[in-house]
Amino acid sequence: MNVYISLDSTAQSVGSLEIYNKLKAQNKPQLNIKKYSTLGLMWLEPLLELEHNNQRWAFRNVNEKNIDDILQNPQNSKNYLGNIEDQPYLKNQHRVIFRHLGKNDPTNIEDYIRLGGFLALKNSLSQSPQSIIDKIKKADIRGRGGAFFPAYIKWQTVLNESSDTKYVICNADEGDSGSFADRLIIENDPFSLIEAMIIAGIAVGAKEGIIYLRSEYTNAKNILQKAIDVAYKKNYLGKNESYCFDLKLAIGAGAYVCGEETALIESLENKRGLVRPRPPVPAISGLLDKPTLLSNVLSFIDIVRLLEGSRDMHTTPIQLSGACKQCGLFEVSNDITIEELISEFGVTPVDDVKAVQVGGPLGAFIPKEKFYLKLNNDELSKEGFILGHASVVVFDKHINMKDILLNLIDFYIHESCGKCTPCRIGQTRLKEILTDLPNNAQSNLNLLYDLLETMKEASLCALGGLTHLSVLSALKYFSGDFNIGELK
Ligand SMILES: Cc1cc2nc3c(=O)[nH]c(=O)nc-3n(C[C@H](O)[C@H](O)[C@H](O)COP(=O)(O)O)c2cc1C
Ligand code: SF4
Repeated sequence: MNVYISLDSTAQSVGSLEIYNKLKAQNKPQLNIKKYSTLGLMWLEPLLELEHNNQRWAFRNVNEKNIDDILQNPQNSKNYLGNIEDQPYLKNQHRVIFRHLGKNDPTNIEDYIRLGGFLALKNSLSQSPQSIIDKIKKADIRGRGGAFFPAYIKWQTVLNESSDTKYVICNADEGDSGSFADRLIIENDPFSLIEAMIIAGIAVGAKEGIIYLRSEYTNAKNILQKAIDVAYKKNYLGKNESYCFDLKLAIGAGAYVCGEETALIESLENKRGLVRPRPPVPAISGLLDKPTLLSNVLSFIDIVRLLEGSRDMHTTPIQLSGACKQCGLFEVSNDITIEELISEFGVTPVDDVKAVQVGGPLGAFIPKEKFYLKLNNDELSKEGFILGHASVVVFDKHINMKDILLNLIDFYIHESCGKCTPCRIGQTRLKEILTDLPNNAQSNLNLLYDLLETMKEASLCALGGLTHLSVLSALKYFSGDFNIGELK
């Protein structure tokens, strides 16, 4: 009997490694214990699956105490779920980017090939770089790092630059609170990212790639390094008869701003993570002043799906966390509303929810009366909100939004790189004004609006430039928590 269990960070944080070790130590010949990728259904972890006579049975919240009972009497266990594929929270998802999850051993390259891995690479080797970029343009692939920038413009710009040396960099800094999609790919489907980076190198004429990973992701680091080593051994990386592409891993040092592309490049150059003024953009002058294609993990994965022949590019991997009964990864079509996400996937009554923050710490707080909005960037931006990296953090109805906002401003102050004055000084002034409310409400608010306008217009990057989203939405929709009455 095959036993599948994930050793992904989330599963390990609730004890999956201990279960894995216990089963291994029992050394039962009838049990074939396999470490598999997670399904990202985090409230069920440690999730264990048994495969017997072509049937697959899933068990939720397994622990060292109940595992023996589960194995002895599987279908009578209170943790028994049936076939996980039949459960509404999985069946009603539309997994394109995350379609390998739950189906592979992350560092087993044969598993990856069995699932169709390296088909996109094969397809891209039989066409010109320009034809690859034309496909990206036609499919209107947008960056998933937050700004929804058309991917083909970056690829085309780097291809058009004439330079002996070019770089491809994957931004895996994933510093946004509530975001974990990049980590899920890296820990569970690392060869997808490696394949994507090779294709990018071939398409833009770069022979070197770097994945910049946040330092907190230690498990991801080990898995990715192992996958890179395997890819070298199997000749997918390095020099082979079709191409030459080297890939290495660089680890950040914990600054949120190093997720910003130019600060990331500074950090790779062993300098302090400060944002660079643009122009020039990295596609023209990036790492070591060379043309550099820099994109988010999920943006790279989109290209693999496209070149595999998938026409299905209209899903969003939503990362749901906070005050919800079911938190995890829900990849769904782009027209799901906030209400549907919370009630159907989060299984939480919207009446228990006060607000959601969408798009990380720089996103707006969206109140319940706007939960009819669809979770796509076009619809959210019409209301002045952002989708960002598609994280949705849910705040319970008892939360005080002034407390939440002040906590967030502390984060902005801590993470401001200090390169530009509006953000370096503005964030601290902002905290003083908000702390003083409701005193001198009118004059404080006038000052605050002026300050936010200056930060929006004059900041060098989105950390200062988008601060107004969280502050103004909190004040507008939750003015009661600031004791300042209704605002115009
Ligand atoms: C303060 C700050 C932090 C950022 N953090 C990340 C991050 O962790 N990951 C990411 O992909 N993009 C991040 N970005 C956006 C990047 O600057 C860049 O736009 C993105 O990596 C481009 O990738 P894309 O074209 O695939 O979206 C951040 C931007 C700012 C201003
Ligand atoms: S907005 Fe803030 S984080 Fe961005 S460059 Fe200016 S000081 Fe640095």
